[in-house]
Amino acid sequence: MKVVLGKDVEGRYRYWNDVQLIHRALPEINFDEIDTTVSLLGKKLAAPIVITGMTGGFPDAAKINGNLAQAAAEVGVAMGVGSERAAILRGQYPESYSCVARFDVPLKFANIGAPQIVAQNPGDRVVGPDDVRAAMDLIHADVLAIHLNFLQEMVQPEGDRRAKGCLDRIGELASRFPVLVKETGAGLSREVAEQLRDRSVKAFDVSGTGGTSFAAVEHYRALEQGAEREARVGKTFWDWGIPSPVSVLELVPLGLPVIASGGVRSGLDVARALALGAGAAGIAGGMLRAAATDFAQTKKELEFLVHELKVAMFLTGSKTVADLQKAPYLLTGESRLWRLR
Ligand SMILES: Cc1cc2nc3c(=O)[nH]c(=O)nc-3n(C[C@H](O)[C@H](O)[C@H](O)COP(=O)(O)O)c2cc1C
Repeated sequence: MKVVLGKDVEGRYRYWNDVQLIHRALPEINFDEIDTTVSLLGKKLAAPIVITGMTGGFPDAAKINGNLAQAAAEVGVAMGVGSERAAILRGQYPESYSCVARFDVPLKFANIGAPQIVAQNPGDRVVGPDDVRAAMDLIHADVLAIHLNFLQEMVQPEGDRRAKGCLDRIGELASRFPVLVKETGAGLSREVAEQLRDRSVKAFDVSGTGGTSFAAVEHYRALEQGAEREARVGKTFWDWGIPSPVSVLELVPLGLPVIASGGVRSGLDVARALALGAGAAGIAGGMLRAAATDFAQTKKELEFLVHELKVAMFLTGSKTVADLQKAPYLLTGESRLWRLR
C-alpha cells in the first residue's frame, strides 16, 4: 500500500493506448440519452466498473475500504476487498473489511489468494469452505474472488512457492460458491481460463500487465529488507505477463463474463475494454490515491471515470454498453504483435 502510493510501480508500456476507438463525426445520439447500465453476475450496475480488491487487515484499511464502498454505492459500481486472509485465518481487523457491508454496493467480491488454498508448509491451515463462507459473510459478498499472484510470491523473500493442487482446490470451492478468478497484474491466458471454466469458475478478471506491477512493488519491499536476489528478480520481471487487452481478447470467446483490468486509468480505457467485449472494467491502483485521501475525492474520481466513459460512448455513437461492445476499433502497437503470434 505504502509502496504503491509512494513509488512509481506502473508497468512501462500503456497497452490500453493500443486500442484505438474510431471517432464517429456524426454520432446521431444525444449525450443525455447515453445509458451506461449493465448487468454483471446477476446484479445491475449503473456503470460497467469494478473497483477491484486492494486492502483490509490493518487499521487504516477501514478508511480506504469505507471510502471506496460509500462511493461505489452512491455511483452504483461494484467493488472487491483485498485478501481476507488476515481476518479469516488470523482474526486481524475484521472491521477493516466488514465496513464495506454498511453500504449498498450493488455487487461485492470477497477475496482469498490461491496460495492459501494449498498447504505451503507441513501442518499449515489452508483456507477451506468454512473460511470462505466466513470471508463472504464478513462483507455480505455476492461472489468470491480467488486471486492468482505467483509472480508476486516469487519476488517476496518469504513468498509462497507451492502452486500444485490449486486448480483442483479452486474447482472444489467453485462447486460450492460463485467464484471469479483474478490475476494480480500478470494476466490470464486462454489455456488457464479454459481449465478454470471446466472447473465451474463463473467469471474472470484478467488483471493483465501494464498497470500496477507487483514485481515492482515487491522489488521495493525486497530492497528495504536487504533481499538482494528478490530485488533483482522484481526488476527483471517488472513487465512480466500478458498485456491486459490481449488477455481480454483471449478470454471473451469462452463466453463467461470478463472483467478487464490492469492499467485501466480513465473512462476512455473503460470504453476500450468494453469495445474488446469485456463485461466491465476493473480499476485498483487508479483509485487508491483518491481512496486514501477522502470520500469526496473517491466519489469524484469515480464520477469522472463514468463521465469520460460517456464521452467515449458519445464520440463512437454508442447509446448503450451493448452498442459500445460492437463499436469498431483498431488494435495497434505491442498488443497487435501479441495477437499475431
Ligand atoms: C495496493 C494494492 C493492493 C492489492 N491487493 C490485492 C489483494 O489483496 N487481492 C487481490 O486479488 N488483488 C489485489 N490487488 C490487485 C488489484 O486488484 C489489480 O488486480 C491490480 O492492481 C491491477 O489493476 P490496476 O493496474 O488497476 O492496479 C492489489 C492492488 C493494489 C494496487
